[in-house]
Amino acid sequence: MCGIVAYSGSGDALPVILDGLKYLEYRGYDSAGVAILNDGRIETVRAVGKISALEQKLKKQTLKGRLGIGHTRWATHGHPSLENSHPHGTADGRIVAVHNGIIENFNVLKNQLLSEGIAFQSETDTEVLVALIGKYYAGDLEQAVRAALNEVTGTYALAVIARDRPDELVVAKKASPLCIGLGRGEVFAASDALAFIKHTNKAVYLKDGEIATLGPQGLVVKNLQGKKVSYKITELSLDPASIEKGEYPHYMLKEIYEQPRAVQDTLDGRISPQNDGALFAELEKHQEYLIGVNKIVIAACGTSWHAGLVAKYLLEKHARIPVEVDYAAEFRYRYPVLDEKTLVMTISQSGETADTIAAIGEAQALGARVLSIVNMPASTIARDSDMVVYTYAGREIGVASTKAFTTQLAVICLLTVYLGRLRSSMSEEYAAGMLQNLKRVPNEIAKIFGEVEHIKKIAGAFARHSNVLYLGRGVGFPIALEGALKLKEISYIHAEGYPAAEMKHGPIALIDENMPTVVLAFKGRRYEKILGNIMEVKARKGRLIAIASESNDDIDRVADEVIRIPDATESISAVLAVIPLQLLAYYIAVEKGCSVDQPRNLAKSVTVE
Ligand code: M6R
Repeated sequence: MCGIVAYSGSGDALPVILDGLKYLEYRGYDSAGVAILNDGRIETVRAVGKISALEQKLKKQTLKGRLGIGHTRWATHGHPSLENSHPHGTADGRIVAVHNGIIENFNVLKNQLLSEGIAFQSETDTEVLVALIGKYYAGDLEQAVRAALNEVTGTYALAVIARDRPDELVVAKKASPLCIGLGRGEVFAASDALAFIKHTNKAVYLKDGEIATLGPQGLVVKNLQGKKVSYKITELSLDPASIEKGEYPHYMLKEIYEQPRAVQDTLDGRISPQNDGALFAELEKHQEYLIGVNKIVIAACGTSWHAGLVAKYLLEKHARIPVEVDYAAEFRYRYPVLDEKTLVMTISQSGETADTIAAIGEAQALGARVLSIVNMPASTIARDSDMVVYTYAGREIGVASTKAFTTQLAVICLLTVYLGRLRSSMSEEYAAGMLQNLKRVPNEIAKIFGEVEHIKKIAGAFARHSNVLYLGRGVGFPIALEGALKLKEISYIHAEGYPAAEMKHGPIALIDENMPTVVLAFKGRRYEKILGNIMEVKARKGRLIAIASESNDDIDRVADEVIRIPDATESISAVLAVIPLQLLAYYIAVEKGCSVDQPRNLAKSVTVE
């Protein structure tokens, strides 16, 4: 959370930094700021709110210079105010820095610095770190940053400039992402290469505990002991055009519509030519281990956790492996019982979610091996895991996860077949059937877009409600949870997902004409039971939207609104059913005038505990 950008080169720093910040706004948008060095002075401009507010301020005040840093904030220490906005500087203005992460011992350090007569303007941990760097600064910026970081516990991606070092940028990383971009006569540093990909595709990913000095002497990377270390230049294949919104009003809508392509890309090359097996070349050398596994524990957060719940249903039913699913933050602190025969599976779009990263460490420390399903290559989770299976959703920028989820489900279906066949718990015919159905998913998703006008109308009618219940049975239950999460995060309507049968054990008390219910009523062995639950809602005057399979005609008689998905098996229906739920949440949020891509209080990638 929080995004940082830094630039040093022959060009004008401000436009590059501002443009970069816009690409990082998904990381937080409570406030934003820039600091540019010019003629021996560092000028700082900050604004509360989104980057557009900062741009407005900068129209009245031009900052010129070739070295600068920028920040977009997701508040941790101190509310979103001007004083708490980054960049933060030392009282004498000699050193200025931007930071993403948390300095855990900031209180101890702050008290020490206060006792030495240093005053603070903000409530932030970052200002304490900057003051500490200032304390150690005697002309060698890298040395001062290193001295300060050696006293710090916590996490950081940090970019620092000094008034009397006009060509020098010092950056450091520990457990928060930081990437350096090497251009021609210019260098960049950012929380995400998205911020500079228009300028260069040559990137260096710093490792934890490394400090880099970027300047005329090139790039020098050291560890916290001051020893030079080698680095690797990676050529990024990210297409700058793929990160634009194009004709769409929001990234979320664009990403919903990208799902047929994203799922197809994720399936490509992973189904055997005879259609009877799933192919994962990346798992080949782990086959013996995977055969011997006696339990899978899945750890993830948010939407990725919902994908984990879907995996439990599929892996237990079709591959016959016991599966537990944990919130990553709970897993890491609950002393899980694991051993070398436990496969811990993590699922993450960003590959940078702090709790999921910590879960991997915990699992490995307890002797388990970790297989991660990740969308972002070169991410921490991809690096830390013993086995990695990528989803190919492409960049997901909207805060509400959409295409990442469906591609995770595609990988989970493939893994179910892969493990089922590997462990001889699934027949060739059964595998072939599942894979045949899976291959149809991209086309079937595209068909659901034909329902969009109908969904818009429903959204118009339901946007006024304050509470919505989502119900599903079996593999429909995690999809109900996901539908509820989508609605609450972008439209601020309170929504709850429940297994439909649980409704009678409490939530039914909430149902009246003001509490609509969304029911997943697709084909499968629980369909009749779901119809029963629908009747229970209707008997209490509840309004009802059903997501139903095309051939489920009887649903029209009981539901107020029906959104159709193509007929499919129960597992595939679950994948398809999430599409109308994403669209419903999207159009309700639009109807309410909400900030769809940047919902309040959220950030795309949750890099703090
Ligand atoms: O990047 P990850 O998949 O690890 O992120 C996990 C959650 O933070 C994420 O899914 C979040 O819940 C989304 N905002 C949901 O739309």
